[in-house]
Amino acid sequence: MTNITKSGALNAFKKINDKNLNVNLLTLNSIKNIDVKDKNVTVDVVLPVPPAAVTDELKSKFAESLQTNLGISENVTVNIETKVTSHKDAKKEQLLPGVKNTIAVASGKGGVGKSTVAVNLAVALARDGAKVGLIDADIYGPSIPLMLGVNEKPKIYQHPKSAKMIPLENYGVKLMSIGFLVDDNNPVIWRGPMASGAVKQFMTDVEWEELDYLIFDLPPGTGDIQLTLVQTIPLTGAVIVTTPQEVSLVDARKGLKMFNRVNVPVLGIVENMSYFIAPDTGKKYDIFGIGGGSKLAEELEVPFLGGIPIDSRIRIGGDSGTPMAFDNPDTDYAKTMQNIARQVATEINLRNLNDNNVEIILSDD
Ligand SMILES: Nc1ncnc2c1ncn2[C@@H]1O[C@H](COP(=O)(O)OP(=O)(O)OP(=O)(O)O)[C@@H](O)[C@H]1O
Ligand SMILES: [Mg+2]
Repeated sequence: MTNITKSGALNAFKKINDKNLNVNLLTLNSIKNIDVKDKNVTVDVVLPVPPAAVTDELKSKFAESLQTNLGISENVTVNIETKVTSHKDAKKEQLLPGVKNTIAVASGKGGVGKSTVAVNLAVALARDGAKVGLIDADIYGPSIPLMLGVNEKPKIYQHPKSAKMIPLENYGVKLMSIGFLVDDNNPVIWRGPMASGAVKQFMTDVEWEELDYLIFDLPPGTGDIQLTLVQTIPLTGAVIVTTPQEVSLVDARKGLKMFNRVNVPVLGIVENMSYFIAPDTGKKYDIFGIGGGSKLAEELEVPFLGGIPIDSRIRIGGDSGTPMAFDNPDTDYAKTMQNIARQVATEINLRNLNDNNVEIILSDD
């Protein structure tokens, strides 16, 4: 009878070539069980990929890799369960105990498309089957209510000891924004400490329950307020949004430095308004220059997550509360967003696996 060890199976799985699977996400700990009975081999695998990535094609690739690489002639069934890994951080456990990972979306400069990226990143992760929350940490210019078409007062849930706000929800994303709480006609004059206090309350006084990813849309810039915020929020990592031109890149560099100062890893750079495709001719125009974001990523040694075109449908989607990543999943833009979201998820899970040192603490079989 065939004898398969976990490390043998792991080595075979590492040879899989699939766009939805970064083989570095596979560790001995991913292989939960191997069962050989009569002419049937069953392997149970747990992967930190979104549920949507587990297609029948991927499952067949797992089975085939065992047959080909280990010379197994029995019927092979590979069951794949998905589970996002958790960032281990004492402050996070205290403030956000049910939240596995937190992501800041930031930019050095205003108006580069941070909120657009934050919203579509959240929606894209949720579409892939992750449990996602989004906090509008831009106290001064909240845009989540408009961009996700939600503007109600959150309900209060009365615990025996304390009251908590129930986040609103749309497109499968749980939401909290100062815009839900303040009156549009009576703008609040926020001072720095109040802004970070409000964001802290969005963490502790909201019933987030279990989340794989909680995304924070930060206010633009790298001043004291932003620095206080990134020190207040227990962050797993940050995504920096830039546009291709030089002024914006200088600001993006400042953003990266700010995260370095507080030891928050930058998960990658998104270049927004990368190019424009004329709808009538299909011709591509590089309005703000070419390749600034990818050059910056290379220079700063962080991943380049992708470039998003200028497209009036993106603005219209934002203004009408219908994010592109949800409404037109087959457009190139939505696919780009989905790809960015998967890279962010992969980057986080790779870091968590590394931090947890799973390979070292586990023995074979
Ligand atoms: N790729 C794009 N194509 C077309 N319009 C876009 C694109 N990205 C963003 N926009 C539009 O540009 C405006 C600014 O975008 P957004 O609000 O996301 O930027 P921001 O960086 O969050 O701004 P702020 O610094 O004010 O918070 C919005 O109206 C948005 O819909
Ligand atoms: Mg914004």
